[in-house]
Amino acid sequence: MNNRIRTDIAHNARVWNYWLGGKDNYPVDRAVGDQVVAFHPGIGEVARADRAFLGRAVTRLAAGEGVRQFLDVGTGLPTADNTHEVAQRIAPDARIVYVDNDPIVLTHARALLTSAPEGVTAYVDADARDPERIVAAAGETLDLSRPVAVLLLGILNFVPDTGEARRVVRTLMDAVPSGSFLVLTHPTLDPELGGEANEAAMAFWNENATPPITARTREEFTSFFEGLELLEPGIVSCSRWGAPEAAAVAQFGAVGRKP
Ligand SMILES: C[S@@+](CC[C@H](N)C(=O)[O-])C[C@H]1O[C@@H](n2cnc3c(N)ncnc32)[C@H](O)[C@@H]1O
Repeated sequence: MNNRIRTDIAHNARVWNYWLGGKDNYPVDRAVGDQVVAFHPGIGEVARADRAFLGRAVTRLAAGEGVRQFLDVGTGLPTADNTHEVAQRIAPDARIVYVDNDPIVLTHARALLTSAPEGVTAYVDADARDPERIVAAAGETLDLSRPVAVLLLGILNFVPDTGEARRVVRTLMDAVPSGSFLVLTHPTLDPELGGEANEAAMAFWNENATPPITARTREEFTSFFEGLELLEPGIVSCSRWGAPEAAAVAQFGAVGRKP
């Protein structure tokens, strides 16, 4: 793993932070971020819709389903309403493990570790493509015999091989018991969500930034939920999950329960 922060090439966590209005980014991130916006003017909306989905999904799982443990893989830089803040507002005893592989997220991890006294947060510097290591590290903070919500928001798109991405999901979900949940968002090129706008933006990204990004079809997105029961409203634009009146963005969102 490269633990050096590189300021000569745009990094996803920092560009995402820029689109969300954050300050933890460098000139190269802002330049590439602006160029992506030129290809896909709605990209800032996608980032904000994704975070709002996180808020609604974690709220529903903590308040409606009684989930008290969260494994958030591909955390991103701290922003407003991080997973532990949303969960612990409802359940101060909630336990959260964050995982990311970007060195800049590691340098900000302390801001992710401000747990309510009744709960716990932990940070693991690991690659999503090593789910066995994530499970082992998560087990030091979470009780893996009790339900866990596994969050993979905007991260499987950085695992280019769909078979490998499915293996990541399967390994994580195999490690948690019945009554656990998978929470997923993923960009798409599907015209049903206006995904055409992503095409040139992603091609530009892949030539100018890191890590490389992949879009997936509805069918591929659905395959991540194999063996799980989708919560209502199923697979929709993440902006519309729990907010049916919202305008669609080109990013699928869904939550599945392990039976
Ligand atoms: C688009 S951001 C999403 C952040 C947050 N989950 C959200 O939805 O707002 C993707 C995050 O995944 C992280 N990431 C990308 N590839 C990764 C990998 N192979 N392993 C771990 N984290 C990764 C990036 O560093 C970045 O922080």
